[in-house]
Amino acid sequence: MCGIIGGTGETPVLPLLVEGLRRLEYRGYDSAGIALPAHGTIWRRRKAGGTRSISELGEGVGDAPPGITCGIGHSRWATHGAPTEVNAHPHTDASGRLAIIHNGILENFRELTHDLPRRGAELVSETDTEVLAHLIAAEVAGGAGLADAVRTCLRRVEGKFAIAVIHADEPDLIVAARRSSPLVCGTDATTAYLASDIPAIHGKADRFYVIDDDRVVELTPGAIRVTDLQGSELVPEEREVTWDLAAAEKGGYPDFMSKEMYEQPAAVRDTLLGRIVQGRIALDQVRLSDEDLRMIDKVYVVACGSSYHAGLVGKQAIQHWCRLPVEVEIASEFRYQDPVLGRTSLVVAISQSGETIDTLEAVHHAKQQGAPVLAVCNVVDSSMARDADAVLYTRAGPEIGVASTKCHLAQLVAMQVLALYLAQVRGTSYPEEVAERLGHLEQIPQRVAAALESADTVKGIASAPDVRDARDFFFLGRGVGRAVALEGALKLKEISYLRAEGYPGGELKHGPIALIEPGTVVVAVATRSRLAGKVLSNVEEVKARGATVVLVVDERDVDVPAVRKLADHIIPLPGTGHELFQPIVDNIPLQLFAYALATARGNDVDKPRNLAKVVTVE
Ligand code: M6R
Repeated sequence: MCGIIGGTGETPVLPLLVEGLRRLEYRGYDSAGIALPAHGTIWRRRKAGGTRSISELGEGVGDAPPGITCGIGHSRWATHGAPTEVNAHPHTDASGRLAIIHNGILENFRELTHDLPRRGAELVSETDTEVLAHLIAAEVAGGAGLADAVRTCLRRVEGKFAIAVIHADEPDLIVAARRSSPLVCGTDATTAYLASDIPAIHGKADRFYVIDDDRVVELTPGAIRVTDLQGSELVPEEREVTWDLAAAEKGGYPDFMSKEMYEQPAAVRDTLLGRIVQGRIALDQVRLSDEDLRMIDKVYVVACGSSYHAGLVGKQAIQHWCRLPVEVEIASEFRYQDPVLGRTSLVVAISQSGETIDTLEAVHHAKQQGAPVLAVCNVVDSSMARDADAVLYTRAGPEIGVASTKCHLAQLVAMQVLALYLAQVRGTSYPEEVAERLGHLEQIPQRVAAALESADTVKGIASAPDVRDARDFFFLGRGVGRAVALEGALKLKEISYLRAEGYPGGELKHGPIALIEPGTVVVAVATRSRLAGKVLSNVEEVKARGATVVLVVDERDVDVPAVRKLADHIIPLPGTGHELFQPIVDNIPLQLFAYALATARGNDVDKPRNLAKVVTVE
């Protein structure tokens, strides 16, 4: 999730690059950089300063060679290597005559680096991208044109990329390419443009083009040429853009929350990317040795809010796959429970931001007691990621909406990956069992995309008078469905300001059922699991007391008589192959439900009242 921008034309390109990076800031701002081919070499400027990176870069380009009409720019959201200046893009080859920017992850970059000593090149950064700079430069040094050199190298690359490359020898040319990461190109009479997303070149280009996977684009002033990786020329499809600029910064969505909900298939896919290798899990950044992990006899999960709910699901996965006892504790309470910790207790801290003070304090407490700490974080090099002994990054990209959506889903995936990894290392599952479960996990991005198609159904339910006018909501679930119910209630509270309680279905009759009366809405998660029948029994109890029932069920169960009888409204969802994976899909309609009710009430879903995205006070 980085931003890339480039242009080649007849007028100075620097203003386009600086403005484009500013417009792409929502894609990441760990660092920013610009490169221009200038007088037989590459002029480059980079800044790593978090949210200040892009503005500092804009202020620091005053000494750029004047009048240069071709260049590339990058805003980074770190995945490989800390967010430092040396890791900032553009990266150059050893001669400093080629520069590259990249959004994505090169899965086989380690293999690719094996070639570098033979070519006399040495990596100076920790990034996966730099290796491509050296490989492409070597092809050019061998006599290839820049476009041929890019095509040759990309045929060897595995993973995701949107790249743009310039070379001092061809100072009007930018060569770009993509596989899975976003790339759009545009032209006007004199200039050709490229960017990760329309906003960066909106109002500049007259025509926009869709670039398909494994296409290489040669941009020259006012023109683009598209080929496949073998060099055969293709005609790009033109793309109509009707949004205004404000909408474009949100990718055409009305707010960041909806944009982020629709980024969930990608967030899940990216969190798995490169971590499943031939039916086994490979976790490079988990720096705890197999030996250490085999010694663990108890796991504590600490987190707040949505991250805590991901922990509740993670607990069941670890207990089920690994037969290890797990406790999940709200981070702000952890220290005060006198947890019994030592070298054989693993503390897993889950945090999108990696800066939540309660979770950070829990991490510090665990470390003082000698327990190894593993952080599941979305923000690379955040305080928690640095303080922990090991990190498993979710790779959801920056989340701007205060209500966590795509990061929560990525956390659920990461916790499954962690549980299966522990099972693999500790030998509590046979390799073929792990492989089968991973096969299911790999299908989940499609299931998430299918679940997002329930948006119209959910919106219709939220606008039905028996739901729209309700003031009290209960969310019920059992097993991992309990965590989904808690998360559904939290989402509704956060953005709609309606009273909502999440409850384990079986607990209702121990008190809260006294609150159920005609007009109360009960949303029950009854997708397929060992406990689905029991959830339906709990729904009978609230139905008998006059509640309006919204049932979330497996799409294969919509005509089951009990479902038809109990439900006032039904939300069908796809299965996921295992009930422990089901929360990854079951959360989606509850996000959409909260969103529909909140927007119908005219609330700002990105900035709900009284809330901050990152809570840094106790
Ligand atoms: O950054 P973290 O994951 O540590 O944040 C934890 C909670 O503050 C966060 O999940 C919060 O509950 C969200 N706003 C939920 O949508």
